[in-house]
Amino acid sequence: MLKGFVLFTFLTALVQAATTANYTGVEVTKNNGTDAKGSILYIFRSQWKQRKIDFTIRDHLVETGYNVTFADQTEDVSLTEDHDLVVISATIRSRDFPSIDYKDIEVPILTWENDILDDLRYTGKCKNTDFGEGDDEHYIQLVNYPHPISAGVESGVAAIFTTDSEVGFGKPGLGADVIGIRPGTPNEALIFSYEEGATMDYDFLAPARRVFFGMGNLSFNNLTDTGLAIFDAAVDYAAGVTDKYNI
Ligand SMILES: *[C@@H]1O[C@H](CO)[C@@H](O)[C@H](O)[C@H]1NC(C)=O
Ligand SMILES: *[C@@H]1O[C@H](CO)[C@@H](O)[C@H](O)[C@H]1NC(C)=O
Ligand SMILES: *[C@@H]1O[C@H](CO)[C@@H](O)[C@H](O)[C@H]1NC(C)=O
Ligand SMILES: *[C@@H]1O[C@H](CO)[C@@H](O)[C@H](O)[C@H]1NC(C)=O
Ligand SMILES: *[C@@H]1O[C@H](CO)[C@@H](O)[C@H](O)[C@H]1NC(C)=O
Repeated sequence: MLKGFVLFTFLTALVQAATTANYTGVEVTKNNGTDAKGSILYIFRSQWKQRKIDFTIRDHLVETGYNVTFADQTEDVSLTEDHDLVVISATIRSRDFPSIDYKDIEVPILTWENDILDDLRYTGKCKNTDFGEGDDEHYIQLVNYPHPISAGVESGVAAIFTTDSEVGFGKPGLGADVIGIRPGTPNEALIFSYEEGATMDYDFLAPARRVFFGMGNLSFNNLTDTGLAIFDAAVDYAAGVTDKYNI
């Protein structure tokens, strides 16, 4: 009986350790300043050992003109309301993250985690077909040059990573703008977006802009200058700083 109780307490502690926010050592808000382009809520897994990558990406977003506030993946979705863009890092643990709560938010979303694309209604539900990942991609085939997310890089194959890196892909719905695919693989889009009101999965309409830039937890470190330019353009588009009908 006592043994059972000890085991129960231990398991409860384990579960809590797996799901509780830990902001120790995290600078929760970092602002660009009064002229900031916009305000980003950055969702990550605050107690995960790889969170350093989120500090790196956050610092980059601040340097490129944004105010950024971190939120652990367990925080309430209502936090998103005060921001211009919600960024969801691949460091979230998808099975603990309530992605379903985020699909309807009227704030734009940019994510690089493929495992939540179905819940967010970016794609259908079939893993490895509608969405999935690969671990050795170096190149992207850009297919939508005039779109602002292409960052002025002409259509064709471009190196977006300096070395083979983890990527995520999705097979987007009918209203998507596909920006780039795995070379020669049209059903595996690495970067795509939806304008507000465009049809996403099946008949789901985008409540606000939705952007996917498929990367693994640490792939950001491996972006080439071209890759970083496209990433920045994806952020600016998602945040509404650029507009596809006015380029
Ligand atoms: C919270 O994170 C800090 C820094 O990574 C770590 O030293 C500390 O042990 C963590 N605390 C808990 C309760 O996980
Ligand atoms: C960014 O933060 C500064 C304070 O540091 C504030 O004055 C400004 O209004 C914020 N801008 C946005 C877009 O949130
Ligand atoms: C704010 O963003 C601009 C780019 O828009 C950048 O030049 C500047 O260094 C940034 N400031 C800070 C404090 O990061
Ligand atoms: C990415 O981070 C998540 C933490 O939520 C972890 O579960 C996953 O194993 C990590 N992936 C890799 C390849 O390290
Ligand atoms: C490149 O990306 C992989 C994962 O995609 C990561 O393990 C590795 O640390 C990255 N390399 C650098 C230099 O950050």
